[in-house]
Amino acid sequence: MKKELYLLAGLTLSATALPAENVCISTPKTSMVINATQGQELKFVYYGEKLSAGDLSNLDHSGLPQFSAYPVYGLNCPGEAALAVRHSDGNMSLQMEVEKTETRTEGNATITTVSMKDKVYPFYIDVCYKAWQDADIIETWTEIRHTEKKAVTLNQFASAYLPIRRGNVWLSSLYGSWANEGQLAQEPLKPGMKVIKNKDGVRNSHTAHAEVMFSLDGHPQENTGDVIGAALCYTGNYKLRIDTDDSEYHQFYAGINEENSSYTLEKEEVFHTPELALTYSGEGLSGASRNFHRWARQHKLAHGNQPRRILLNSWEGVYFDINQEGMDQMMADIASMGGELFVMDDGWFGDKYKRNTDNSSLGDWVVDTTKLPEGIDGLLADAEKHGVKFGIWIEPEMANTTSELYEKHPEWILKAPQRDPVLGRGGTQVVLDLGNPEVQDFVFGVVDDLMTKHPKIDYIKWDANMAVMNHGSNYLDKEKQSHMYIEYHRGFEKVCQRIRAKYPDLTIQACASGGGRANYGYLPYFDEFWVSDNTDALQRIYMQWGTSYFFPAIAMASHISAAPNHQTFRTIPLKYRIDVAMSGRLGMEIQPKNMTDEEKELCRKAIADYKTIRPVVQFGDIYRLVSPYDRLGVASLMYTSPEKDKAVFYWWKTETFVNQHLPRVKMAGLSADKMYRVHELNRIDNKPLEFEGKTFSGSFLMNNGLEIPYTHNVDYHKLNDYASRVLYLEEVE
Ligand code: GLA
Repeated sequence: MKKELYLLAGLTLSATALPAENVCISTPKTSMVINATQGQELKFVYYGEKLSAGDLSNLDHSGLPQFSAYPVYGLNCPGEAALAVRHSDGNMSLQMEVEKTETRTEGNATITTVSMKDKVYPFYIDVCYKAWQDADIIETWTEIRHTEKKAVTLNQFASAYLPIRRGNVWLSSLYGSWANEGQLAQEPLKPGMKVIKNKDGVRNSHTAHAEVMFSLDGHPQENTGDVIGAALCYTGNYKLRIDTDDSEYHQFYAGINEENSSYTLEKEEVFHTPELALTYSGEGLSGASRNFHRWARQHKLAHGNQPRRILLNSWEGVYFDINQEGMDQMMADIASMGGELFVMDDGWFGDKYKRNTDNSSLGDWVVDTTKLPEGIDGLLADAEKHGVKFGIWIEPEMANTTSELYEKHPEWILKAPQRDPVLGRGGTQVVLDLGNPEVQDFVFGVVDDLMTKHPKIDYIKWDANMAVMNHGSNYLDKEKQSHMYIEYHRGFEKVCQRIRAKYPDLTIQACASGGGRANYGYLPYFDEFWVSDNTDALQRIYMQWGTSYFFPAIAMASHISAAPNHQTFRTIPLKYRIDVAMSGRLGMEIQPKNMTDEEKELCRKAIADYKTIRPVVQFGDIYRLVSPYDRLGVASLMYTSPEKDKAVFYWWKTETFVNQHLPRVKMAGLSADKMYRVHELNRIDNKPLEFEGKTFSGSFLMNNGLEIPYTHNVDYHKLNDYASRVLYLEEVE
């Protein structure tokens, strides 16, 4: 029996004479349609551009096949499944039927929940869709529970499934490694299974990322074409599967990595799978990025609507060589250049064992008074004197076997019984068992203690420099050892929630051996992440390009560092290092004492200019223009303000040859009929550019672009093989 009403979730459209079972879930510019017919399997029907009432009403006649919206294992065995379980009686099958659909409003989002029950067993799945009304993102996840007499084992438990119509579909994803994070890979989807996964246990974005984009109509384009983007919001191990089977569709599954993690679900316990955030854009990859960025700033990232401070971090400047005088000098220097925050990195702690290198003291979060006789209060007083805020580095999830913590609590580390632990960084590092509530209290206490004693601490750099290398939890029952990874991240989130509840204003950076924690699972608790331990400006162009697919500039910590660079040993002129760092959340990671006055002056100007463009960079819309991965000798991107009255354009030459030919870059994202005045920032040339101070229409800038000189007009002794430009565009009436 069909009710003659269309269920519209978050949609003002009213449709009539439609089968009641179709549910339309909408954001401002997108629609997803599912079929939730009572007593039947939940079906996926459509995801893409927002549907008109007319098209919505005829959707069932458009020839679209219907797929299970959340495929379960057991009655259709040959296909991939989202969920696979073993009931307590050994039965390994599920057959889910829709019981009801409910829609509710939560803030700016509409949440649609489809409740399903197994045809025979008291086993239930809620499939949830959260459609944002101010961002084109639909988050989807499931809540799984049962009332069977005994526990049910979950063998596979993806968050979501999405069929993607075959055609010429290309996948964009990120891969890499330590110091080379965020590398972009683009490939056409071919028959077979593409798996993107993480098994680190602690961090999850060094070697692969839990976010992907599908370009639906051929080779990926930045500013045209239909794109579906997906980001799994999870802090732990994940698995994304794209199965190109013999059907007309690519079958996409995303969720927690179930390997070595089968889960024993007790009666009445609810298993929440992490959200998969989906977006659709008809404006190419950059369009999908803009959707993610807007949602991130408004809803996902801690303090996403507050500008970030310009900072100096001590790491590459002094490494472990921390002392009060040195910190004071660095604070004075960053203050004199206009910076707003100083962050003291590793090396400040340890009593019995002092942290002079990376092989001891993690866990002993007390000030090393030989280095800092006046303690943190002394540093805070210095910061106040110089008019900057103060931040501090911690790595609270870890210990070294050479630490007082380990001596006191050897049972707190992850390790298999009867086995010697495999050790990490420094040959002594171990991971604490965050599934254990006592360990959670300890980790929370690290922050709480610092903040209680020193409430003026403004910023914490939270690091995590080791993978889980030992499977074993002292806390978990023998039967639940396979819960270790999941419990670790539940514990991690609990700690983060406690910290955020008590210290809502604290700025926290997620660092994990560089860019190991760039994921939307972390970002509700963190303001930003360290993109990479590699600060080489040229390599950063590639890393930040890839990372920008999913994460906004405001979250991407990007620092000016020394030359030669400490990771690549490449000597890149300061101008170019500044021009790259200024495309993210600008900071410095250098010993200012070693800079010349001229270099300091250039940084001072850049910091002042960054303050002007900060709202455009940190809150603007990204348009990627020329990809470094296309190897055209140049890379270029820009940010425009939402009102399109301001824009910042970046142009970085990525290689140099005599008489080379670089493409002229056409801009994007401007208003065609607005007039913009062009002003070069960070100018080092003896003469201004031809177009300095001149005014051009958005149309000209987007259809033609400006002819950027390939070299800098500087004195002979200053010539080098790098060139870059940052142009600030402002609307003139
Ligand atoms: C990690 C981080 C670095 C730095 C060091 C300190 O490698 O990524 O930025 O904080 O730890 O030991």
